[in-house]
Amino acid sequence: MDLAGKKIVLGLTGGVACYKAAMLARELGRAGATVQVVMTQAATQFITTVTMQALTGNTVYTDQWDARIANNMPHIDLTRDADAIVIVPCSTDFMSKLAHGACDDLLSTLCIARPARVPLMVAPAMNVEMWQNPATQRNARQLRQDGILLLGPDAGAQACGEMGEGRMLEPAQLMEDIIAAFQPKLLAGRRVLLTAGPTFEPIDPVRGITNLSSGKMGYALARAAREAGADVMLVSGPTALEVPHGVQRIDVQTAQQMHDAVMANVAGQDLFVAVAAVADWRVANASTQKLKKNADGGAPQLQFTQNPDILAEVAALPRCPYCVGFAAESENLAQYGAAKRAKKNIPLLVGNLGPQTFGRDDNTLMLFDEQGHTSLPHADKLTLARQLVREIARRMAA
Ligand code: C5P
Repeated sequence: MDLAGKKIVLGLTGGVACYKAAMLARELGRAGATVQVVMTQAATQFITTVTMQALTGNTVYTDQWDARIANNMPHIDLTRDADAIVIVPCSTDFMSKLAHGACDDLLSTLCIARPARVPLMVAPAMNVEMWQNPATQRNARQLRQDGILLLGPDAGAQACGEMGEGRMLEPAQLMEDIIAAFQPKLLAGRRVLLTAGPTFEPIDPVRGITNLSSGKMGYALARAAREAGADVMLVSGPTALEVPHGVQRIDVQTAQQMHDAVMANVAGQDLFVAVAAVADWRVANASTQKLKKNADGGAPQLQFTQNPDILAEVAALPRCPYCVGFAAESENLAQYGAAKRAKKNIPLLVGNLGPQTFGRDDNTLMLFDEQGHTSLPHADKLTLARQLVREIARRMAA
């Protein structure tokens, strides 16, 4: 539960994206947060207080003169024990109010009255022209300058029928951003390149050789690095996984393509983490046409050639980033792990205790560095990824 014990004040302003705020409220609750909803009058035109109250189990406030609060100071009372205020959706008008310090209703007053330690995040949701209007852009810059975190907006189809920037992020993306806001920024300003997933080596146009890597560990690490404040690029073999929000993904199939994508992007990276299960060999005599079954029962004779070792090549670059490798071994991990780290000439190698981790949501890791080895005990892959980011950041700083 990523938000266990956190109190989130969820502010709704006027916009059709209010329906997504209902789903977000539910997700925040599922992640362990207590959700206190405050709505503007305009928001109540789009979704009712009853819906938000039923979803959160807490009284919804809309009015600064609400007599239910004994001292009549809801703007103070509702924020003093808050861990964050999140405005979803944030209208053009509300952005303007925040940028200028206006406070003529409960939600805007509460934002101004929040203690400095309480982060304020806003998810803009508006028509493309409204978003691109110079006044809105000026307000967006002002909000950023004031330390307010803008979540999105995204670009795409809009409720009004137009297309473009201004569309609110989806609840799942907002969740990733809100959870990220609570993670320590151990890789702030760092550029991180990762590989993840399996590779696929064609035999003919419809067949190929691959492996059981799901990409889950690499994707979790990409997410954890982004949560830690890094600028993250993920070179991914074929997987069915959603790219973590805010991570730039380059899709590849073969080891050679993965190699080429890494080499084209490695300059200027601070950290390279090779999580992908790269095929050691490819089919040298792959057919450009689909192979046909022989009438005489004979099988195709495949010949193999070795793929480039991406990690070793990056580690050998004259100005190489900090390099981290992964290894999956079925036995003698402690012995093989240390040997593999030395062979690849990298400062840190992460061992999976058994290739049976492929496809699972949990894992156990062993870390090999020049001091020896330590373990990260059994946990889900995102938890391990966050711990690993901590381990990597500490070593990079040293
Ligand atoms: O040599 P081995 O495959 O056991 O090493 C595993 C590590 O090397 C992983 O980090 C993997 O991503 C990386 N690797 C690579 N290119 C290859 C083979 C492995 O980057 N061709």
